[in-house]
Amino acid sequence: MDEPVLRSLGLTIRFGGLVALDQVDLEVRAGEIVAVIGPNGAGKSTLFNIITGVYGPTEGRVWFDGKDITGRPTHEIVARGIARTFQASRLFADLSVLDNVVLGLHTRTTTNVLEAMLLPGRSRRELARAAATAEGILEQIGGNLFEQRKRRASELAQADRRRLEIARALASQPKLLLLDEPTAGMDDNDTDALIEDVRKLKADRSDMAIVVVEHDMRLVAALPERVVVLDYGRKIADADFDTVRRDPRVQEAYLGSSAS
Ligand SMILES: Nc1ncnc2c1ncn2[C@@H]1O[C@H](COP(=O)(O)OP(=O)(O)O)[C@@H](O)[C@H]1O
Ligand SMILES: [Mg+2]
Repeated sequence: MDEPVLRSLGLTIRFGGLVALDQVDLEVRAGEIVAVIGPNGAGKSTLFNIITGVYGPTEGRVWFDGKDITGRPTHEIVARGIARTFQASRLFADLSVLDNVVLGLHTRTTTNVLEAMLLPGRSRRELARAAATAEGILEQIGGNLFEQRKRRASELAQADRRRLEIARALASQPKLLLLDEPTAGMDDNDTDALIEDVRKLKADRSDMAIVVVEHDMRLVAALPERVVVLDYGRKIADADFDTVRRDPRVQEAYLGSSAS
């Protein structure tokens, strides 16, 4: 059976009088890359917030891996295999690049890594193992992050910080990776490099699905198999890039307000 890894049905959330998501149905299959685009305020980040349990929907349900995860707490959802990056960076600026990834591992290790860091000698072996795993992830992500593993996260260039966020998300070995505007603040060269990073990632982890919220049309044209368009909380298109691009409703949505 080709059961989708992620499915939502009738997803709706109201913030006071504002309907931020309105009856959104979504399906993402294992290994698929889906882009979610739409004007500023369309509900893209809110969709991620509901999938990851930050908010419970007013109506509708979300299934992951065949299980209903609607309104479950975030830590449980992460442990089940969904990882995300945020539109605004949430790295530990004063920790090293390596330690930021090590912290991302803690959902999958038996001992709490944070505890182990605070109590040296207690589980040195586990920490060493975690560091080795984190180094492997840094080697995989590219952009010289491995070579920069001992630097503080705050010292990284903007593009490397974005890469590090992805590396940290990967540490939890997700089945579904949610990327919220990963190219924000990047120039064209960095965007091209990120596209390559994600392609490589996909080649290495063929079963992992990726949903990427993006405004950069280079990336949207290059990466995803499918593009979902949100406008005022409604899904107005769900097809391949060329079909979506020619859709009059999509064109109208983008002409009617500033693209984001
Ligand atoms: N916690 C919240 N409380 C009130 N309104 C919110 C909240 N989160 C998002 N919104 C509103 O929901 C709409 C969609 O926001 P968002 O999902 O961040 O848009 P996008 O990511 O597509 O730019 C916006 O109008 C935003 O102001
Ligand atoms: Mg957003």
